[in-house]
Amino acid sequence: MILLRSNSPAATSRLGRKLGALLTAGDVVCLSGGLGAGKTCLCRGIGVGYGAQTQLTSPSYNLVHEHRRAQYETRLYHLDCYRLGNPQAAQSLGIDDILDGSGAVIIEWAERIEPFLPSERLWIDFDIRGESRRDLHCQAMGDRHISLLADFLRALESDAA
Ligand SMILES: Nc1ncnc2c1ncn2[C@@H]1O[C@H](COP(=O)(O)OP(=O)(O)OP(=O)(O)O)[C@@H](O)[C@H]1O
Ligand SMILES: [Mg+2]
Repeated sequence: MILLRSNSPAATSRLGRKLGALLTAGDVVCLSGGLGAGKTCLCRGIGVGYGAQTQLTSPSYNLVHEHRRAQYETRLYHLDCYRLGNPQAAQSLGIDDILDGSGAVIIEWAERIEPFLPSERLWIDFDIRGESRRDLHCQAMGDRHISLLADFLRALESDAA
């Protein structure tokens, strides 16, 4: 388990940018942590780092947003499971197709569809520590996601941008 600390929305967004730049097809990033924890803030940064052509916004009503980036076929799927009545409803979202490995996937309220998620993933659990303080507990499962997390930490160390 790796602990990352954020002291502002801008810091969380930077974490997202660094992570988003590393995402590739088959990556699954699960986010948990409650209302207002900063999941969507991180996702907006991920979208920027990934190079998404559309800004990531909260997909609370659509439940899933699909983003593209220039020159790449790979899609970025952004899910928000807050409004899912039960985990089975995930199947009506086409979760199996979304998780088929052809795109990168980031999931807010991932714990709500835990039974449908692959065991190999990066999980980031947000802990609200104060008005502007958030702790992000990161855990990677599987070789690809372990190296994704390692690359993410290296990218955070390598510069302050
Ligand atoms: N360090 C921080 N990182 C991220 N957001 C922060 C931080 N400090 C304060 N905030 C505030 O917390 C809120 C986070 O909102 P955000 O929509 O990202 O949360 P969320 O986890 O997606 O919530 P929800 O589950 O309701 O969608 C924003 O109002 C933001 O300004
Ligand atoms: Mg959100």
